[in-house]
Amino acid sequence: MSTYLITGVAGFIGSSLARAVLKQGDRVRGIDNFSTGKPENLQEIFKQIDFREADILDLDAMNKACESVDYVLHQAAIPSVPKSVLDPLGSNRANVDGTVNVLVAARDAKVKRVVYAASSSAYGDTPTLPKHEEMAPHPLSPYAVAKLASEYYMVSFFHCYGLETVCLRYFNIFGPRQDPTSPYSGVLAKFITQMLKGEPPTIFGDGEQSRDFTYIDNAVSANLLACKAPKNVAGGVFNVATGRRVNLKESFRILKKLTDYEGEVKFGPERAGDVKHSLADISNAEKHLGYRPIVDFEEGLKKTVEWYRVKSVDSGRWSVVTKP
Ligand code: UD1
Repeated sequence: MSTYLITGVAGFIGSSLARAVLKQGDRVRGIDNFSTGKPENLQEIFKQIDFREADILDLDAMNKACESVDYVLHQAAIPSVPKSVLDPLGSNRANVDGTVNVLVAARDAKVKRVVYAASSSAYGDTPTLPKHEEMAPHPLSPYAVAKLASEYYMVSFFHCYGLETVCLRYFNIFGPRQDPTSPYSGVLAKFITQMLKGEPPTIFGDGEQSRDFTYIDNAVSANLLACKAPKNVAGGVFNVATGRRVNLKESFRILKKLTDYEGEVKFGPERAGDVKHSLADISNAEKHLGYRPIVDFEEGLKKTVEWYRVKSVDSGRWSVVTKP
């Protein structure tokens, strides 16, 4: 039995990872400062995990959290492009200083491997599609710079200290438990919950922008594979996506059917720091991690819509109300 430390365990991705690690019969230790994570994300698994409320910026807490840990899945972050534009210092502290703390603690505790939630935003707005890991990065927003800087720290800790690290460049992960309530929330979580309430969603820009939207189960499987992949993946960077892109207008059309929304979509000004198109080449992850997408976009949307529908009836914690 292995022990996994998940940073940001109360977040959308962290809590999904915790469920998957428990399901495979391993131990979960989790830390979260509840800055964006929510206790309800851990509801039915709370008693099965060793949870510690702590900030990754607290090195002492990180040192204790890393004791006797085999794998670290580092998800804790302030995960937002627009928020980083408003508060670059806060983004840098959480997303870069926090990562260095995690690495120092993991190195000193001699953990076997650290898997990092890197971001497709590192590629920026370069016209070449699909994005391949060998391409020169071109980060636009402070968030993208911070995520990329953390990747470089991961790689440098492998080269300088022999700590095995793997960076997974997530491409727009979506699914159950993604918080739809903040102005910085991921577009699909916002659209789904707005449309379920019968409210019009807003497209920023012309709606032609496209993303390689990736259902959460794919990201979870990539993390678990990255822990167990052969040693030659250490120091590596891998895209985690589906290899297909969908634009916002098309996403809205699909969601209209799934949510029974009858209204229209509104249009607003384009967002600062926004990337126009994003699509991944996933061949490296397939070859070296044994990764392949297990849930496609439409299927993922269906599961996500159902989750938000049921949640609204169950608890109302997500402030979603379905139409009568
Ligand atoms: C970016 C990163 C992603 C990262 C995420 C963290 C890229 C390509 N992707 O996502 O890897 O995990 O930051 O936050 O850089 N939009 C609307 N209406 C809304 C909300 C958003 O039209 O109500 C638009 C945005 O302007 C954007 C698209 O939807 O064009 C996607 O936005 P969002 O879901 O916030 O993610 P990214 O910024 O693409």
